Amino acid sequence: MVATFTGKKPTRMDQFEEDYTLVVAAAIDADVARTADRVLVNLANLEPLVQEFAVNQLVHACQTAARAERAGEDLDVVVGSLCHDMAKTITNANHGGAAAELIRPFVSDDVFWMVKHHQDFQGKHYYELLGLDPDAREHHAGHPAFDLTARFADDYDQVAFDPDYDTPPLEHFEAMVREVFGRKPRRAE
Ligand SMILES: [Fe+2]
Repeated sequence: MVATFTGKKPTRMDQFEEDYTLVVAAAIDADVARTADRVLVNLANLEPLVQEFAVNQLVHACQTAARAERAGEDLDVVVGSLCHDMAKTITNANHGGAAAELIRPFVSDDVFWMVKHHQDFQGKHYYELLGLDPDAREHHAGHPAFDLTARFADDYDQVAFDPDYDTPPLEHFEAMVREVFGRKPRRAE
């Protein structure tokens, strides 16, 4: 049971006192339990996003994760695959970095890195058409998560726009999302 504060709540942080600050901190800690709910809502909000692709972004997310799961990847990779584009509910700009920071306290360092840099790896398949460097991934050569991220981009992400693929619904991944985002969050350095 999370304590509630019964006194008059201060309206400025520089007026916080210790007892009130501890109640607020405990309420924020307890709120972590709802992280998975918010992630699931955010993923569901990808559905209206189509941007002329052959499938919407929710199907793309589920299809990318299904491909990772069916290839035998571990839980963090599957959930990272599901979440890799979830910041697109706000903006396409820097969506990889934004999604990576959101999942960072809950997943392995490799999966954080995979999501953060997936766009550079994805570029191999279309950057040339936009006048960008298709070998952008090579700047990351030697990183411990390079091979994982290459596998993710080449085998799971860039091929996950197929309306005829047997794509499971978001509900298929719900227990996995709850397991990962139910972990005690790690503090990022
Ligand atoms: Fe993607």
